[in-house]
Amino acid sequence: MKERTLTIIKPECVSQKHIGDIIQRIEKAGFEILGIRMVHLSPEEAKQFYLVHKERPFYGDLVNYMSSGKVVVVVLEKENCVEAFRKFIGSTNPEEAEPGTIRKDFGTNIQNNCVHASDSPENARTEISFFFSQRDLILNQ
Ligand code: CMP
Repeated sequence: MKERTLTIIKPECVSQKHIGDIIQRIEKAGFEILGIRMVHLSPEEAKQFYLVHKERPFYGDLVNYMSSGKVVVVVLEKENCVEAFRKFIGSTNPEEAEPGTIRKDFGTNIQNNCVHASDSPENARTEISFFFSQRDLILNQ
């Protein structure tokens, strides 16, 4: 069954002009783009988006980083999309990511690990609705 996920191209990849490279690799891997936009998150928005991590020691740094510059948020669709995309991007820590993955090739450390990806179908729905209305996505169905 087709499923959706949300990915965010993180600030360093945007400022280093890797948007095109990353999108091209995502598309070539068979993920369909249903929605895409560039945003500069406020610290409050980043806090809200990453609320599930609020007890983690890296929460403050993550919020600062994700609100430090423009990011590109993308809704993707594919069979088994959440799991397939997480496998495609590689491990959270780019140093441990498999060769040929985008986190290995474009990530520099665990915080700037190239892209965010939803970790479950339920979280994907919440994260997609954080940035996109149903109306934004319906034209692409
Ligand atoms: P992301 O997919 O955006 O989801 C949460 C982010 O927290 C994760 O990618 C990492 O960039 C960041 N992070 C920072 N430190 C850690 C850590 N020790 N373990 C997991 N995630 C971390």
